[in-house]
Amino acid sequence: MSTANTVNKSKVTTHVLQEMKYKGEKIAMLTAYDYSFAKILDDSGIDIILVGDSASNVMAGFDSTLPITLNDMIYHASSVVRAAKRPLVVVDLPFGTYQGNSKEALSSAIRIMKESGANAVKIEGGSEVLESVKRIISAGIPVMGHLGLTPQSIHKFGTYVVRATEETEATKLREDAKLLEEAGCFALILEKIPAKLAGEVTEDVKIPVIGIGAGGKVDGQVLVLHDMLGITQDFSPRFLRRYHNLKEEIMGSVQEYIKDVKSRDFPNEREQY
Ligand code: KIV
Repeated sequence: MSTANTVNKSKVTTHVLQEMKYKGEKIAMLTAYDYSFAKILDDSGIDIILVGDSASNVMAGFDSTLPITLNDMIYHASSVVRAAKRPLVVVDLPFGTYQGNSKEALSSAIRIMKESGANAVKIEGGSEVLESVKRIISAGIPVMGHLGLTPQSIHKFGTYVVRATEETEATKLREDAKLLEEAGCFALILEKIPAKLAGEVTEDVKIPVIGIGAGGKVDGQVLVLHDMLGITQDFSPRFLRRYHNLKEEIMGSVQEYIKDVKSRDFPNEREQY
């Protein structure tokens, strides 16, 4: 197991990720939204930290990713950047800051890069957002694409079920992946689509493909940190592997603390001045 002392410390760039794909070395990515967790991920040797708009659910308690604002994302991203020395830091452009107007998309991406110090942005969608993707890349900002289940479009699809199971949608996804690659995206996320389709797309494009609920034939994996640590417990899709039951552990400690305070056991003589 890697420890803070043994992990490779050289900075992960988009070029390093491309080399990892060529070498067949899998890419490990997790979300983070604050300094403390980002520091733990950095010390653990994670390759990419995604400051996801899942912060809207996980950090702010909304029931979708739609309400989170650009200012909120910049706040989360700058906290993460202060801790993340080695991983590439990618930040979601939130809903309403890039769709339909490529000029606005560019100014949103510039604000994220300037005000947070992040390394790249992520955008949901294919042909519909291509103009925005191209404009942002033309300003020298690396863009990660995101296809398949795109949570910002929840009101269009009405459900979070597996995407692209029908041939028409699968064909569009394949085409969108090529379009995003040609536009200059440095990587793609494929969310909740059949493993076979994700494997085919990964072979079709030269850029790294990171999956979440997209099987093992992709170049890397991403999970939401609070889900994989078992801090959030009300979300249990098949693709989620829980590595811990942190909610239970934290509750145990908090309940012990409450007991110690109530029983006057805390603080003791050595814990005071
Ligand atoms: O916002 C997020 O956390 C994401 C991942 C689920 C890929 O987009």
